[in-house]
Amino acid sequence: MINRKNYFDYAAATPLCDEAVEAMKPYYQDKYYNPSAIYLAAAENKKSLESYRQVIASGIGAKPAEIIFTAGGTEANNLAIQGVMNDHPGKNIIISAIEHESVIEPANLFICKTAAVNKQGFVDIEKLTKLIDDNTLLISIMYANNEIGTIQPLKKISGVIKKVTKERLSKNIITPLYLHCDACQACNYLDMQTSRLGVDLMTINSGKIYGPKQCGALYKKTSVNIKPIILGGGQEKNLRSGTENLANIAGFAAAWQEIRKTQKDEALRLSSLRDKFINQLQVKLPNATINGPVKNLRLPNNISVALTGFDNETLAMMLDESGFMVATGSACKAASSKPSAVLRAIGQPQGSIRITMGRQTTKKSLDDLLKALIKLTTT
Ligand SMILES: Cc1ncc(COP(=O)(O)O)c(C=O)c1O
Repeated sequence: MINRKNYFDYAAATPLCDEAVEAMKPYYQDKYYNPSAIYLAAAENKKSLESYRQVIASGIGAKPAEIIFTAGGTEANNLAIQGVMNDHPGKNIIISAIEHESVIEPANLFICKTAAVNKQGFVDIEKLTKLIDDNTLLISIMYANNEIGTIQPLKKISGVIKKVTKERLSKNIITPLYLHCDACQACNYLDMQTSRLGVDLMTINSGKIYGPKQCGALYKKTSVNIKPIILGGGQEKNLRSGTENLANIAGFAAAWQEIRKTQKDEALRLSSLRDKFINQLQVKLPNATINGPVKNLRLPNNISVALTGFDNETLAMMLDESGFMVATGSACKAASSKPSAVLRAIGQPQGSIRITMGRQTTKKSLDDLLKALIKLTTT
C-alpha cells in the first residue's frame, strides 16, 4: 500500500477528493445522457452542465459564457494560443522563457518571441516591453511556474498591456493585444479573480486541484475572438466540439468548490512547512541550492533544490526506493537528467529535485524526507 504522506509530486497529479468522486458517480451509469439530446433527462444534464459552468465562472469573477470546458490544461493552452493567433493571421506572440511545453509548442507554430527571466524566474518587464511591436497580438505568461514555483507579476504585465493598447488606439492601430495566463499550478493557492489579474484568457486545470484529469477550462473574455481548434458538433458555443464529459466536469466543479474553502489555510500551512524545510535543508546540506524565489513570491507548495555533486535522476530513484516520490522537473520531461529548459533559463547548470506538497503532506512526512535526503547525500 502506497503511503500517500510520502508523495511529493502534487504539481504533477493530485488524488481525487471525495467530493469530486461523489459528484462524478451519477454520470457513469445513471445520468449518462448526452446533454445535447432532446429528451427531458438529457435536458437535466444540460442544466447541470450549466450549473458547473456557473461554479467555475463565479470562482474567477467571470460570466458563465466566458468559460469553455476542455480536456485539461494542455488543450486549454492550445485553444487560447492557436485560437487567438489563427483569428488574426500574420501577427506575433510573446511567451516567457519558462512556460510549460503546452504553451511553447503551440506558440512556436507562429512568429514567437521569448521574454527572458531573471535568476529567480521572474519575467523581466522592461525586456518584455521592448519585445512588443505593433504586430504583437498575444502575450502568454504563466501565473506560477510548475518547476520552480515563481509567481509572476501578472498585474504589472497587464498594466503594460493596457498602456500599449492605449498607445495603439492613439495611433489608429486596430490590432488588439491580449494577455493569456496559464494558471494550472495557481488555482489551489492564489487569487484567481480575472479582473484583478487583468487577464483576457486564463487556463485552469482540474487535474491539479484534486479533480479528474483530462478536464479543465479556458476563461475567454467576451470581447476576445478565437477560432476553434477542434471542429465538429459545435458544443461549447462552437469553440470546443465533442460530447461534454459531464462526469469530469461535475468532479472539476466539486473539487473547485472544495479548494476555495481551504485555499487560505492551506496556503499558510504549506508556506510555513516549505520555509521550515528550506531553512533546515540549507543548514544541514550546504551543497544544496534552492531554485526560484523565497517566501511569498513562490508557490506555497513548491521546493526545488539542486544538490551539487549529485545526479538528480539517481537521487530521485534512490528516494523512491526509500519510499519518497519526488520529481526531477516537470512530469512530462521526467526521463531526462539534464537541467530542464526552465532551470537553464534561470542559469542553473545542473538538474534538480522538485518537491511539491499537498493535502496529505505533514510536518512529519517532510522531516522524514529531509532525513532521507541527508542520509542519501552524506553517506
Ligand atoms: C503549468 C502547467 N501548464 C499546463 C499543464 C498541462 O496540463 P495537463 O497535463 O493536465 O494537460 C501542466 C501540467 O503539469 C502545468 O503544470
